[in-house]
Amino acid sequence: MESVIVTRHGDPDCMELQELPTPSPGTGEICIRVSKAGINFADILARMGLYPGAPNPPFTPGMEVSGTVHEVGPDVDDFEVGDRVVGSGGSGGYSTHTISKAATVFKIPDDVTFDLAAAFPAVYLTSYLMVIHPGDLQPGESILIHGAAGGVGLAATELAKIAGAKNIFGTCSPNKHAFISDNGVLPIDRDNFLAEIMDWTKGKGVDLVLDPIGGEHLMQSYRCLGSGGRVCSFGISDMAPTKRKSQWARFKSWLTFPKFDPLKMMASNRGVFGIHLGRWKNLDHLEKAKNDLLKWIEEGKINPHIDKVFSKEQVSEAHHYIQDRKNIGKVLIDFD
Ligand SMILES: NC(=O)c1ccc[n+]([C@@H]2O[C@H](COP(=O)([O-])OP(=O)(O)OC[C@H]3O[C@@H](n4cnc5c(N)ncnc54)[C@H](OP(=O)(O)O)[C@@H]3O)[C@@H](O)[C@H]2O)c1
Repeated sequence: MESVIVTRHGDPDCMELQELPTPSPGTGEICIRVSKAGINFADILARMGLYPGAPNPPFTPGMEVSGTVHEVGPDVDDFEVGDRVVGSGGSGGYSTHTISKAATVFKIPDDVTFDLAAAFPAVYLTSYLMVIHPGDLQPGESILIHGAAGGVGLAATELAKIAGAKNIFGTCSPNKHAFISDNGVLPIDRDNFLAEIMDWTKGKGVDLVLDPIGGEHLMQSYRCLGSGGRVCSFGISDMAPTKRKSQWARFKSWLTFPKFDPLKMMASNRGVFGIHLGRWKNLDHLEKAKNDLLKWIEEGKINPHIDKVFSKEQVSEAHHYIQDRKNIGKVLIDFD
Protein backbone atom coordinates (compact mmCIF):
# COMPACT_ATOMS: atom_id res chain seq x y z
CA MET A 1 0.00 0.00 0.00
CA GLU A 2 0.99 3.66 -0.22
CA SER A 3 0.88 5.79 2.89
CA VAL A 4 1.66 9.43 3.68
CA ILE A 5 4.18 9.56 6.53
CA VAL A 6 4.89 12.50 8.82
CA THR A 7 8.64 11.97 9.08
CA ARG A 8 9.14 14.60 11.84
CA HIS A 9 7.10 17.36 13.43
CA GLY A 10 7.34 20.40 11.19
CA ASP A 11 5.97 22.36 8.26
CA PRO A 12 3.87 20.67 5.52
CA ASP A 13 7.01 19.52 3.68
CA CYS A 14 7.81 17.05 6.48
CA MET A 15 5.37 14.54 4.88
CA GLU A 16 6.22 11.98 2.18
CA LEU A 17 4.45 9.13 0.37
CA GLN A 18 5.98 5.72 1.19
CA GLU A 19 5.39 2.08 0.16
CA LEU A 20 4.48 -0.07 3.17
CA PRO A 21 3.08 -3.59 3.68
CA THR A 22 -0.74 -3.65 3.60
CA PRO A 23 -2.00 -4.19 7.17
CA SER A 24 -4.42 -6.97 8.18
CA PRO A 25 -7.40 -6.17 10.39
CA GLY A 26 -7.41 -7.58 13.92
CA THR A 27 -10.44 -8.67 15.95
CA GLY A 28 -13.34 -6.22 15.53
CA GLU A 29 -11.48 -4.31 12.80
CA ILE A 30 -11.88 -3.63 9.09
CA CYS A 31 -9.31 -2.79 6.43
CA ILE A 32 -10.68 -0.08 4.13
CA ARG A 33 -9.41 0.49 0.60
CA VAL A 34 -9.46 4.28 0.76
CA SER A 35 -10.95 6.35 -2.03
CA LYS A 36 -10.86 9.80 -0.38
CA ALA A 37 -9.39 11.03 2.90
CA GLY A 38 -10.74 14.22 4.47
CA ILE A 39 -8.23 16.71 5.83
CA ASN A 40 -9.06 18.13 9.24
CA PHE A 41 -7.26 20.96 11.02
CA ALA A 42 -6.46 18.38 13.72
CA ASP A 43 -4.21 16.57 11.15
CA ILE A 44 -2.29 19.82 10.73
CA LEU A 45 -1.88 20.23 14.49
CA ALA A 46 -0.77 16.57 14.74
CA ARG A 47 1.81 17.13 11.98
CA MET A 48 3.16 20.14 13.88
CA GLY A 49 3.29 18.24 17.19
CA LEU A 50 0.49 20.30 18.73
CA TYR A 51 -2.35 17.78 18.92
CA PRO A 52 -2.66 16.12 22.34
CA GLY A 53 -2.64 12.33 22.07
CA ALA A 54 -1.46 12.17 18.42
CA PRO A 55 1.26 9.58 17.66
CA ASN A 56 4.89 10.63 17.42
CA PRO A 57 6.63 10.55 14.00
CA PRO A 58 6.84 8.50 11.93
CA PHE A 59 3.07 8.22 11.66
CA THR A 60 0.26 8.51 9.11
CA PRO A 61 -2.28 11.27 9.80
CA GLY A 62 -5.93 11.24 8.78
CA MET A 63 -9.04 10.63 10.87
CA GLU A 64 -11.76 10.21 8.25
CA VAL A 65 -11.92 8.24 5.02
CA SER A 66 -14.39 6.90 2.51
CA GLY A 67 -13.84 3.76 0.45
CA THR A 68 -14.69 0.07 0.19
CA VAL A 69 -14.16 -2.76 2.66
CA HIS A 70 -10.95 -4.55 1.61
CA GLU A 71 -10.76 -7.17 4.39
CA VAL A 72 -12.87 -7.98 7.46
CA GLY A 73 -11.27 -9.03 10.75
CA PRO A 74 -12.51 -11.72 13.19
CA ASP A 75 -15.77 -11.01 15.08
CA VAL A 76 -17.04 -8.50 12.52
CA ASP A 77 -20.47 -9.58 11.31
CA ASP A 78 -22.02 -6.45 9.82
CA PHE A 79 -19.63 -5.85 6.91
CA GLU A 80 -18.59 -7.67 3.75
CA VAL A 81 -15.72 -7.12 1.33
CA GLY A 82 -16.81 -4.49 -1.21
CA ASP A 83 -19.22 -2.59 1.07
CA ARG A 84 -19.08 1.17 0.52
CA VAL A 85 -18.19 2.76 3.86
CA VAL A 86 -16.98 5.76 5.82
CA GLY A 87 -14.43 5.24 8.59
CA SER A 88 -13.41 7.70 11.26
CA GLY A 89 -11.28 8.01 14.37
CA GLY A 90 -7.62 7.93 15.43
CA SER A 91 -5.14 8.36 12.61
CA GLY A 92 -3.83 6.47 9.57
CA GLY A 93 -6.35 7.72 6.99
CA TYR A 94 -3.86 9.29 4.53
CA SER A 95 -3.25 5.91 2.95
CA THR A 96 -4.50 3.63 0.19
CA HIS A 97 -5.43 1.12 2.93
CA THR A 98 -6.29 1.85 6.55
CA ILE A 99 -7.52 -0.09 9.57
CA SER A 100 -10.63 1.12 11.42
CA LYS A 101 -12.59 -0.30 14.34
CA ALA A 102 -15.83 -1.71 12.91
CA ALA A 103 -17.78 0.24 15.56
CA THR A 104 -16.60 3.52 13.99
CA VAL A 105 -17.37 2.50 10.38
CA PHE A 106 -20.74 2.96 8.71
CA LYS A 107 -22.13 2.00 5.33
CA ILE A 108 -23.04 4.70 2.84
CA PRO A 109 -25.91 4.61 0.35
CA ASP A 110 -25.03 3.95 -3.30
CA ASP A 111 -26.06 7.46 -4.36
CA VAL A 112 -23.65 9.16 -1.92
CA THR A 113 -20.30 9.76 -3.64
CA PHE A 114 -16.99 8.96 -1.92
CA ASP A 115 -16.10 12.66 -2.07
CA LEU A 116 -19.22 13.67 -0.23
CA ALA A 117 -18.85 10.84 2.30
CA ALA A 118 -15.26 11.79 3.21
CA ALA A 119 -16.27 15.42 3.67
CA PHE A 120 -19.00 14.57 6.11
CA PRO A 121 -18.22 12.90 9.51
CA ALA A 122 -15.92 15.20 11.51
CA VAL A 123 -17.27 18.59 10.50
CA TYR A 124 -20.96 17.69 10.73
CA LEU A 125 -20.80 15.61 13.91
CA THR A 126 -18.76 18.34 15.63
CA SER A 127 -21.20 21.00 14.41
CA TYR A 128 -24.17 18.90 15.55
CA LEU A 129 -22.78 18.77 19.10
CA MET A 130 -22.11 22.50 19.10
CA VAL A 131 -25.33 23.73 17.50
CA ILE A 132 -28.03 21.09 18.10
CA HIS A 133 -27.15 19.28 21.31
CA PRO A 134 -25.68 20.16 23.77
CA GLY A 135 -25.32 23.58 22.07
CA ASP A 136 -29.12 23.79 21.83
CA LEU A 137 -29.55 26.75 19.47
CA GLN A 138 -33.24 27.66 19.60
CA PRO A 139 -35.47 29.12 16.86
CA GLY A 140 -35.06 32.90 16.81
CA GLU A 141 -31.67 32.83 18.57
CA SER A 142 -28.49 34.34 17.14
CA ILE A 143 -25.10 32.72 16.62
CA LEU A 144 -21.54 33.89 15.92
CA ILE A 145 -19.49 31.32 13.99
CA HIS A 146 -15.74 31.94 13.87
CA GLY A 147 -14.07 30.40 10.82
CA ALA A 148 -17.43 30.54 9.04
CA ALA A 149 -15.90 29.67 5.64
CA GLY A 150 -14.05 26.55 6.85
CA GLY A 151 -15.19 22.94 6.90
CA VAL A 152 -16.75 23.12 10.37
CA GLY A 153 -17.90 26.71 9.81
CA LEU A 154 -19.97 25.87 6.72
CA ALA A 155 -21.46 22.78 8.37
CA ALA A 156 -22.35 24.79 11.50
CA THR A 157 -24.00 27.44 9.30
CA GLU A 158 -26.25 24.82 7.72
CA LEU A 159 -27.21 23.40 11.13
CA ALA A 160 -27.87 26.89 12.53
CA LYS A 161 -30.33 27.42 9.67
CA ILE A 162 -32.01 24.08 10.41
CA ALA A 163 -32.24 25.08 14.10
CA GLY A 164 -34.04 28.27 13.05
CA ALA A 165 -31.37 30.86 13.91
CA LYS A 166 -32.54 34.44 13.45
CA ASN A 167 -29.14 36.00 12.83
CA ILE A 168 -25.99 34.14 11.82
CA PHE A 169 -22.82 36.20 12.19
CA GLY A 170 -19.46 34.92 10.96
CA THR A 171 -15.77 35.76 10.93
CA CYS A 172 -13.18 34.54 8.39
CA SER A 173 -10.45 35.96 6.13
CA PRO A 174 -11.73 39.15 4.45
CA ASN A 175 -11.46 37.66 0.93
CA LYS A 176 -14.10 35.06 1.94
CA HIS A 177 -16.65 37.61 3.21
CA ALA A 178 -18.54 37.69 -0.09
CA PHE A 179 -18.84 33.91 -0.02
CA ILE A 180 -20.27 33.70 3.51
CA SER A 181 -22.55 36.64 2.81
CA ASP A 182 -24.02 34.73 -0.18
CA ASN A 183 -24.40 31.82 2.25
CA GLY A 184 -26.71 33.87 4.50
CA VAL A 185 -24.08 34.85 7.09
CA LEU A 186 -23.41 38.41 8.15
CA PRO A 187 -19.62 38.89 7.84
CA ILE A 188 -17.97 40.44 10.88
CA ASP A 189 -14.48 41.98 10.95
CA ARG A 190 -12.50 39.43 12.92
CA ASP A 191 -10.05 42.01 14.27
CA ASN A 192 -12.89 43.96 15.85
CA PHE A 193 -15.57 41.33 16.31
CA LEU A 194 -16.69 42.13 19.87
CA ALA A 195 -17.45 45.77 19.06
CA GLU A 196 -19.16 44.83 15.77
CA ILE A 197 -21.35 42.20 17.43
CA MET A 198 -22.39 44.67 20.09
CA ASP A 199 -23.19 47.25 17.39
CA TRP A 200 -25.27 44.81 15.35
CA THR A 201 -27.17 43.50 18.38
CA LYS A 202 -27.56 46.97 19.96
CA GLY A 203 -25.59 45.84 23.00
CA LYS A 204 -27.71 42.74 23.59
CA GLY A 205 -25.10 40.18 22.48
CA VAL A 206 -25.63 36.80 20.83
CA ASP A 207 -26.95 33.47 22.15
CA LEU A 208 -24.24 31.09 20.95
CA VAL A 209 -20.61 31.57 19.88
CA LEU A 210 -18.45 28.83 18.34
CA ASP A 211 -14.76 29.47 19.05
CA PRO A 212 -12.06 27.32 17.37
CA ILE A 213 -9.28 29.83 18.08
CA GLY A 214 -8.82 29.85 21.86
CA GLY A 215 -6.45 31.98 23.97
CA GLU A 216 -7.50 35.60 24.51
CA HIS A 217 -9.87 35.23 21.52
CA LEU A 218 -12.06 32.92 23.63
CA MET A 219 -12.56 35.61 26.26
CA GLN A 220 -13.60 38.09 23.54
CA SER A 221 -16.08 35.48 22.30
CA TYR A 222 -17.48 35.10 25.83
CA ARG A 223 -17.95 38.88 26.01
CA CYS A 224 -20.14 38.69 22.87
CA LEU A 225 -22.76 36.71 24.80
CA GLY A 226 -26.09 38.08 25.89
CA SER A 227 -28.02 36.87 28.93
CA GLY A 228 -28.55 33.11 28.61
CA GLY A 229 -25.77 32.88 26.03
CA ARG A 230 -23.12 30.17 25.84
CA VAL A 231 -19.77 29.90 24.12
CA CYS A 232 -18.38 26.64 22.77
CA SER A 233 -14.60 26.19 22.90
CA PHE A 234 -13.60 23.61 20.28
CA GLY A 235 -10.16 24.45 18.93
CA ILE A 236 -6.71 25.87 19.57
CA SER A 237 -5.81 27.50 16.22
CA ASP A 238 -4.27 30.33 18.23
CA MET A 239 -1.42 27.94 19.06
CA ALA A 240 -0.63 27.49 15.35
CA PRO A 241 -0.11 30.99 13.89
CA THR A 242 2.68 29.70 11.62
CA LYS A 243 3.33 26.40 9.81
CA ARG A 244 5.88 25.14 12.33
CA LYS A 245 5.40 24.57 16.01
CA SER A 246 6.49 27.59 18.02
CA GLN A 247 6.88 26.90 21.74
CA TRP A 248 6.53 30.63 22.35
CA ALA A 249 3.20 30.88 20.45
CA ARG A 250 1.95 27.80 22.26
CA PHE A 251 2.97 29.14 25.67
CA LYS A 252 1.54 32.62 24.95
CA SER A 253 -1.77 31.11 23.85
CA TRP A 254 -1.92 28.80 26.87
CA LEU A 255 -1.18 31.75 29.17
CA THR A 256 -3.99 33.85 27.70
CA PHE A 257 -6.64 31.09 27.78
CA PRO A 258 -9.29 32.53 30.12
CA LYS A 259 -9.94 31.03 33.54
CA PHE A 260 -13.71 31.53 33.83
CA ASP A 261 -15.18 32.55 37.16
CA PRO A 262 -18.36 30.55 37.95
CA LEU A 263 -19.69 33.32 40.20
CA LYS A 264 -19.44 35.85 37.38
CA MET A 265 -21.01 33.35 34.99
CA MET A 266 -23.89 32.83 37.41
CA ALA A 267 -24.38 36.55 37.90
CA SER A 268 -24.51 37.23 34.16
CA ASN A 269 -26.36 34.05 33.07
CA ARG A 270 -23.63 33.10 30.63
CA GLY A 271 -22.05 29.71 30.11
CA VAL A 272 -18.98 28.03 28.58
CA PHE A 273 -18.79 24.48 27.25
CA GLY A 274 -16.25 22.45 25.31
CA ILE A 275 -16.62 19.93 22.49
CA HIS A 276 -14.03 17.33 21.47
CA LEU A 277 -15.56 14.89 18.98
CA GLY A 278 -12.75 12.34 19.39
CA ARG A 279 -13.43 12.13 23.12
CA TRP A 280 -17.24 12.16 22.99
CA LYS A 281 -18.28 9.13 25.05
CA ASN A 282 -22.06 8.94 24.50
CA LEU A 283 -22.22 6.68 21.41
CA ASP A 284 -26.04 6.55 21.42
CA HIS A 285 -26.06 10.29 21.07
CA LEU A 286 -23.60 10.15 18.17
CA GLU A 287 -25.80 7.51 16.52
CA LYS A 288 -28.77 9.87 16.74
CA ALA A 289 -26.65 12.71 15.38
CA LYS A 290 -25.52 10.52 12.46
CA ASN A 291 -29.11 9.48 11.65
CA ASP A 292 -30.40 13.07 11.80
CA LEU A 293 -27.55 14.23 9.55
CA LEU A 294 -28.10 11.46 6.99
CA LYS A 295 -31.82 12.33 6.94
CA TRP A 296 -30.99 16.02 6.37
CA ILE A 297 -28.64 15.05 3.51
CA GLU A 298 -31.44 13.00 1.91
CA GLU A 299 -33.86 15.90 2.36
CA GLY A 300 -31.33 18.24 0.73
CA LYS A 301 -31.09 20.39 3.85
CA ILE A 302 -27.34 19.91 4.12
CA ASN A 303 -24.79 19.60 1.39
CA PRO A 304 -21.08 19.31 2.27
CA HIS A 305 -19.07 21.94 0.44
CA ILE A 306 -15.90 20.49 -1.11
CA ASP A 307 -13.32 23.10 -2.02
CA LYS A 308 -10.58 21.03 -3.60
CA VAL A 309 -9.33 17.45 -4.06
CA PHE A 310 -5.55 16.98 -4.04
CA SER A 311 -3.76 13.85 -5.30
CA LYS A 312 -1.92 11.61 -2.82
CA GLU A 313 1.35 13.01 -4.15
CA GLN A 314 0.19 16.56 -3.26
CA VAL A 315 -0.58 16.18 0.45
CA SER A 316 2.04 18.78 1.45
CA GLU A 317 0.49 21.27 -1.01
CA ALA A 318 -2.91 20.54 0.52
CA HIS A 319 -1.65 21.35 4.03
CA HIS A 320 0.02 24.54 2.72
CA TYR A 321 -3.27 25.48 1.04
CA ILE A 322 -5.21 25.21 4.32
CA GLN A 323 -2.56 26.94 6.43
CA ASP A 324 -2.38 29.74 3.85
CA ARG A 325 -6.11 30.09 4.70
CA LYS A 326 -7.12 29.57 1.07
CA ASN A 327 -9.78 26.91 1.60
CA ILE A 328 -13.50 27.50 1.61
CA GLY A 329 -15.01 24.29 2.97
CA LYS A 330 -13.51 20.86 2.90
CA VAL A 331 -10.22 19.69 1.34
CA LEU A 332 -9.80 16.01 0.36
CA ILE A 333 -7.00 13.69 -0.76
CA ASP A 334 -7.58 11.25 -3.60
CA PHE A 335 -6.24 7.71 -3.00
CA ASP A 336 -8.02 6.00 -5.93
N1 LIG B 1 -13.18 19.90 18.92
C1 LIG B 1 -13.42 19.11 17.89
O1 LIG B 1 -13.90 17.98 18.05
C2 LIG B 1 -13.10 19.60 16.51
C3 LIG B 1 -13.47 18.85 15.38
C4 LIG B 1 -13.19 19.36 14.11
C5 LIG B 1 -12.52 20.59 14.00
N2 LIG B 1 -12.17 21.28 15.11
C6 LIG B 1 -11.50 22.60 15.01
O2 LIG B 1 -12.29 23.40 14.17
C7 LIG B 1 -11.47 24.32 13.47
C8 LIG B 1 -11.80 24.23 12.00
O3 LIG B 1 -11.39 22.95 11.55
P1 LIG B 1 -11.59 22.53 10.03
O4 LIG B 1 -11.00 21.16 9.91
O5 LIG B 1 -12.98 22.75 9.61
O6 LIG B 1 -10.61 23.53 9.28
P2 LIG B 1 -10.99 24.65 8.22
O7 LIG B 1 -11.75 25.69 8.96
O8 LIG B 1 -11.63 24.03 7.05
O9 LIG B 1 -9.58 25.18 7.71
C9 LIG B 1 -8.77 26.02 8.38
C10 LIG B 1 -9.24 27.49 8.29
O10 LIG B 1 -9.13 27.99 9.62
C11 LIG B 1 -8.87 29.39 9.58
N3 LIG B 1 -7.82 29.66 10.53
C12 LIG B 1 -8.01 30.26 11.72
N4 LIG B 1 -6.87 30.31 12.40
C13 LIG B 1 -5.93 29.73 11.65
C14 LIG B 1 -4.55 29.48 11.82
N5 LIG B 1 -3.90 29.84 12.92
N6 LIG B 1 -3.90 28.84 10.82
C15 LIG B 1 -4.54 28.47 9.72
N7 LIG B 1 -5.85 28.67 9.50
C16 LIG B 1 -6.54 29.30 10.46
C17 LIG B 1 -8.53 29.72 8.13
O11 LIG B 1 -9.67 30.35 7.56
P3 LIG B 1 -10.06 31.88 7.83
O12 LIG B 1 -8.77 32.65 7.99
O13 LIG B 1 -10.85 32.26 6.66
O14 LIG B 1 -10.86 31.85 9.11
C18 LIG B 1 -8.37 28.37 7.44
O15 LIG B 1 -8.78 28.41 6.10
C19 LIG B 1 -10.03 23.96 13.84
O16 LIG B 1 -9.58 24.80 14.88
C20 LIG B 1 -10.15 22.53 14.35
O17 LIG B 1 -9.12 22.16 15.22
C21 LIG B 1 -12.44 20.81 16.36
